[in-house]
Amino acid sequence: MPDNDELTDGARFQSEVAAPVHVSKLKGAGALDWGMQSRLARVFRPATNRTVMLAIDHGYFQGPTTGLERVDLSIVPLLPYADALMTTRGMVRSTIPPTCGAPIVLRASGGPSVLKELSNEQIAVAMDDALRLDAAAVAVQVFIGGEFETQSIRNMTQLVDEGQRAGVPVLAVTAVGRELTRDARYLRLAVRICAELGAHVVKTYYCADGFDTVTASCPVPVVMAGGRKLPELDALTMAYRAIEGGAAGVDMGRNVFQSDHPDAMIRAIRAVVHESVKPEHAYDEFVRPAVQGH
Ligand code: 5RP
Repeated sequence: MPDNDELTDGARFQSEVAAPVHVSKLKGAGALDWGMQSRLARVFRPATNRTVMLAIDHGYFQGPTTGLERVDLSIVPLLPYADALMTTRGMVRSTIPPTCGAPIVLRASGGPSVLKELSNEQIAVAMDDALRLDAAAVAVQVFIGGEFETQSIRNMTQLVDEGQRAGVPVLAVTAVGRELTRDARYLRLAVRICAELGAHVVKTYYCADGFDTVTASCPVPVVMAGGRKLPELDALTMAYRAIEGGAAGVDMGRNVFQSDHPDAMIRAIRAVVHESVKPEHAYDEFVRPAVQGH
């Protein structure tokens, strides 16, 4: 039934005020559907359009990795500092408190262990289970140049199709086999293929020469993978340079949870990523006091 005239006040229509237009400033996200943009805004802090993702999904192919033996003890206390947590559905349901507030980037591919050919992955999570877990995104490994390259790309495109239907973004993780060189030429190839085939975010390694060309030629946000454990200042420097080179954040694991001071380390990474604090300053503010026992 229409309102009676006396129930509305003409002034409330504020005809002279234009309605705001909300356009995502996240790279490549402006034309995505609302649910997709909303989920991406949970992972990428809207104030900076950057993210500090904590990756703890290593167990899905290599078992209880050093630092992840007891996720309840080593990782749960770090969650307040993570913009998102990249993990498996088994770890989410068994160990991550539903009240923690950290958006989940759900590992959705898997299959082989470290004892087998790693590129031989399949999709390991149905999209309806990702939705049931309130995942902010799903993550899939893509092995460009790997033995099962096409199969891994097929995993990704299938998740993209399902993600488009459900409003769930897909993070493509460019996995680099031992035999492949992590140079800008390879990373440009891998990252661009993932974006062209529909990934909404791509995770890749940092390279010292030409990382800016990797991010510039990728039409969606690139987040930097951490890789093997480095001395803390070196890891902070790598993160800083990746951000300077156009990365929209980091998705780091071992350089956080294998540090002797994971709490200080993730706080230092946040300062580097969100405030562009120089790595030496972030080290001095967060890590050095922890090392000195303050
Ligand atoms: C495994 C992954 C991991 O999430 C990630 O690369 C591990 O993080 P880190 O290298 O920083 O320990 O995608 O292939």
